Amino acid sequence: MGRSTHSSRRTTGAPHEETAITTAARPVAVVTGASSGIGEEFARRFAARGHDLVLVARREDRLTVLGDALAAEHGVSVTVLPVDLADPGGPAEVAAGLRRRGLRADALVNSAGFGTYGPFATEDPARIAAEVQVNVVALTVLSRLLLPDLVAAPAGVLVNVASTAAYQPGPSFAVYAATKAYVRSLTEAIWQEHRGTALRVLSLAPGPTETEFFEVAGSDRFRVGQVLTVAQVVDVAFRALDRRDPPPSVVAGRRNAVAAALAGALPRRLVLRVAGRLTGE
Ligand SMILES: NC(=O)c1ccc[n+]([C@@H]2O[C@H](COP(=O)([O-])OP(=O)(O)OC[C@H]3O[C@@H](n4cnc5c(N)ncnc54)[C@H](OP(=O)(O)O)[C@@H]3O)[C@@H](O)[C@H]2O)c1
Repeated sequence: MGRSTHSSRRTTGAPHEETAITTAARPVAVVTGASSGIGEEFARRFAARGHDLVLVARREDRLTVLGDALAAEHGVSVTVLPVDLADPGGPAEVAAGLRRRGLRADALVNSAGFGTYGPFATEDPARIAAEVQVNVVALTVLSRLLLPDLVAAPAGVLVNVASTAAYQPGPSFAVYAATKAYVRSLTEAIWQEHRGTALRVLSLAPGPTETEFFEVAGSDRFRVGQVLTVAQVVDVAFRALDRRDPPPSVVAGRRNAVAAALAGALPRRLVLRVAGRLTGE
């Protein structure tokens, strides 16, 4: 058994200083977006599977409450890294936070992300820039920075959270859907590049899921498809990862998977027309 201390030494100064930590003897799971929703559920599951955790998001208070609870419940060590991934230096800050503590990532879940809703012509340029930075750039750079650790791990895991929006363009949430198409494409390519290694790579596509996502987006007009809970979505991910030969990507929810497959098979004009109707274009 490894050590299970969860230090409660906390920084209170600069916003990017991080909280406490310990030496890890268990595998380490790094989860972005761990302060809420799907990322939080991944953190719970990895702790239950005996992983130490590195929790990343902006809301340090939430990460700390979660980390304390999981350390107490599962005897794992938890590092809280309050980092803004819309900041171009965010991913390097996360990687440096691990290095400083001598931690190596065995698993990385990139769940941090958000959506914007509305006609592209009226989207706030600063907000869509942040959306691309968090959903695309930070996910890409953090995957790249931690990949050597994941490849060296005896049973490395990389999960990038895409969306069913990755499977067709999204009229009225054009930028969001485009970011998720990128996540799926990137992740599937990384999957292929690591065939035959111990690293398991998965693009996870949730449909509408009960989280703070729609509140943050300011609209639930793109809440289209079969609604699942975070537990159901994360179950789908672990079921895929636990297979002997995990697939490059998985869609959560049978009806969502059928819709995604249809979107890939039907004529583009038809797909766009239907997508536009469904999302209130
Ligand atoms: N819910 C859905 O219907 C749905 C469907 C398909 C895909 N997804 C995807 O699932 C992932 C998780 O979303 P969710 O549903 O769990 O939504 P959520 O409850 O709103 O969680 C989003 C997480 O991302 C973090 N985050 C957002 N901006 C950040 C930033 N600038 N820096 C660091 N962390 C940031 C948030 O933490 P802080 O605010 O504390 O920073 C939060 O932990 C996202 O990638 C989303 O696109 C969600």
